[in-house]
Amino acid sequence: MRSARAMKLLLFLSALLGLAWALQDFHPEQVEGPWHTIKLGATDKTVIEEGGAYLCFMTGITLLQNGDLNVTYFHRKDGKCVKEYYIAEKTGSPGRFTFEYQGKNYLTFVLVTNDVTIMDLENQNDRGTLIVAELHGRSLSAGKHGLEAYRKHTSRRGIEQGNIVDLLEYRPHLCDP
Ligand SMILES: *[C@@H]1O[C@H](CO)[C@@H](O)[C@H](O)[C@H]1NC(C)=O
Repeated sequence: MRSARAMKLLLFLSALLGLAWALQDFHPEQVEGPWHTIKLGATDKTVIEEGGAYLCFMTGITLLQNGDLNVTYFHRKDGKCVKEYYIAEKTGSPGRFTFEYQGKNYLTFVLVTNDVTIMDLENQNDRGTLIVAELHGRSLSAGKHGLEAYRKHTSRRGIEQGNIVDLLEYRPHLCDP
């Protein structure tokens, strides 16, 4: 009885902190190496449409000596694919990183397996909060292993199904590394 109540309190507190879904057991070596972006979803769809700031195709992650991550990706700019990178700085919470890009961004790993990873990006600037959820696969076909977890995560983050783009479908017209 008492421990059930304690558990409820714990769940309530972690929900309050908004990170109940964050990965509890994160090993940065697991996310190193090449990736392909399979799906992007956002609370504001315009950011993941042509010309949007978050229409990105992640190509790889390198772990730096200090524990930060170097994330490389292709971004659509003026109708072309441009290779860029950002340095995600580690925070006190495992699997949670931060970087500046149109405001402050929190990058949280939600799922990491041998095949897929789900990344949650929360951007905060003077216009409010934007959430972008990304599904990446080790190969283009591996992404299917993450679809159910991705659907769950986008729904708990308030991202509607209509606000999700399948990059596999329009990759041939965009960046095809
Ligand atoms: C991050 O990766 C890019 C692309 O490979 C490279 O040009 C850049 O120097 C790297 N930055 C750091 C700090 O390692």
